[in-house]
Amino acid sequence: MANALIIGASGQIGKQAVGKLLDAGHHVVAPVRNKDKLSDIEHPHLSVVEQDLEKDFSAHFEGVDTVVFTAGSGGNTGAEKTLLIDLWAARNAVNYAKSAKVPKFIMVSSIGAGDPDAVESPIKPYLVAKHMADEHLIHSGLHYIILRPGTLLNEPGTHLVRTDMPTNKNEAVIPREDVATAIVESVARENNNDVITYLFKGETPIAQVFQ
Ligand SMILES: NC(=O)c1ccc[n+]([C@@H]2O[C@H](COP(=O)([O-])OP(=O)(O)OC[C@H]3O[C@@H](n4cnc5c(N)ncnc54)[C@H](OP(=O)(O)O)[C@@H]3O)[C@@H](O)[C@H]2O)c1
Repeated sequence: MANALIIGASGQIGKQAVGKLLDAGHHVVAPVRNKDKLSDIEHPHLSVVEQDLEKDFSAHFEGVDTVVFTAGSGGNTGAEKTLLIDLWAARNAVNYAKSAKVPKFIMVSSIGAGDPDAVESPIKPYLVAKHMADEHLIHSGLHYIILRPGTLLNEPGTHLVRTDMPTNKNEAVIPREDVATAIVESVARENNNDVITYLFKGETPIAQVFQ
């Protein structure tokens, strides 16, 4: 069983990941800026602590064996928060994990983060932030799993994904619940090869992708 630190645990993916990780028997530490958002999950293996990611959050990494970064500044804030959360908080999380010798880091990245120059998009600053956070993790020496989901949907998961880029842009989507399941499979994964993978709705069981 893992001691998982979920950064962004009050978010739409993060909260589903917390529930699924607890159901699977893992211990979860959830640093959140508003503890009320997790008040409906009571579990002896869940520790919720108040934390603003714009401040030093190194205190939560001791004894952790997997870090999950699924925080994000969201679409309603500007470039300032994109820099401070999607880039800087992610970068700090990698550094804290390295100092605490955490064996595994799972980053929820994004489609487009691999090559932000590839498409003209109003969200390019966000993709650049995600790209640089991923690069920092890749060069950190930590064992990493980088998940690059397509556009996120609020619908029930299918537990089935594809990891190749669809030719039809409308198919480059995935339910948030399936990203949460991919996080749980990544936490449980025993294979120590580093992974960077797209995630879209598809036909392959999620567990198979993370064997
Ligand atoms: N939208 C898309 O289509 C898309 C596609 C691919 C990847 N992604 C990525 O998927 C990830 C998760 O998405 P989501 O929909 O679950 O996002 P979300 O619901 O907006 O959750 C974001 C999380 O980050 C937290 N956060 C932001 N600023 C914080 C701060 N200063 N201190 C503490 N916590 C802070 C939020 O806390 P609060 O609950 O307090 O706000 C929340 O827990 C993000 O990394 C996003 O970039 C999104």
